[in-house]
Amino acid sequence: SSKDRDFKYIPKTFQVTEGAAYLHITSNNTIKGTQWQSFPDAGDVPLVSDMSSDILSRAFDPRPFGLIYAGAQKNLGPAGVTLVIIRDDMLARVPNDIPTMFRYTTHAEKNSLYNTPPCFAIYMVQLVLKWLEDTVGGLAAIEKANKEKAALLYGVIDQSGFYQGTADVDSRSLMNVTFRLPNEDLEKKFVAEAQKQGLGGLKGHRSVGGCRASLYNAVGMDAVQALVDFMREFEKKNG
Ligand SMILES: Cc1ncc(COP(=O)(O)O)c(C=O)c1O
Repeated sequence: SSKDRDFKYIPKTFQVTEGAAYLHITSNNTIKGTQWQSFPDAGDVPLVSDMSSDILSRAFDPRPFGLIYAGAQKNLGPAGVTLVIIRDDMLARVPNDIPTMFRYTTHAEKNSLYNTPPCFAIYMVQLVLKWLEDTVGGLAAIEKANKEKAALLYGVIDQSGFYQGTADVDSRSLMNVTFRLPNEDLEKKFVAEAQKQGLGGLKGHRSVGGCRASLYNAVGMDAVQALVDFMREFEKKNG
């Protein structure tokens, strides 16, 4: 892991233990603002990923993965739905001595209808997927838009001596842009003044502090433009 530097970067050189049950990665670290740009080669070890905060934000090849899981609440739809993509050979490994509900085989065999599904939330996911396909133009189009949004915001951070990005440049997330201001009092003021202008949710995760702008699929370029305009203005007044 990148624990040695407070998870500010995506590890590049590491050994996958031969015969390991799996290699788990979180494709996008929502809190620290880092993202795997390409996925590690785990050889015969099944690659498992929590993709909750960047699923469907870009095109990717799912074939190397044994298991992908993602809470819907960022790019897919309302909280309460979890998407799971599991390879057949992984299903064959599910032990029988864990509770029925925890076995992916249970859900695969019952076509995800073993328990009462949250129909309305799933319907919302369908609408989001339709929007992504028909209105946005698919994964290549949303990836392009997400890259443009992130480039605009990181550009402003990098040009300023006032805002400081917290993740290493080569590990930066397109979804969660984490940054600091010169001190915590200014961060508090920044979050409060932004809120007054309708720019909410800019406080960093409680475990790390600082500021965080989340640029999920539903966030338009107009919103990012409004944020960077505000940031430039705030820097002028307080820098
Ligand atoms: C990557 C990632 N994993 C897991 C979670 C936690 O999801 P939940 O609150 O549904 O347990 C989050 C936050 O929503 C997340 O961003």
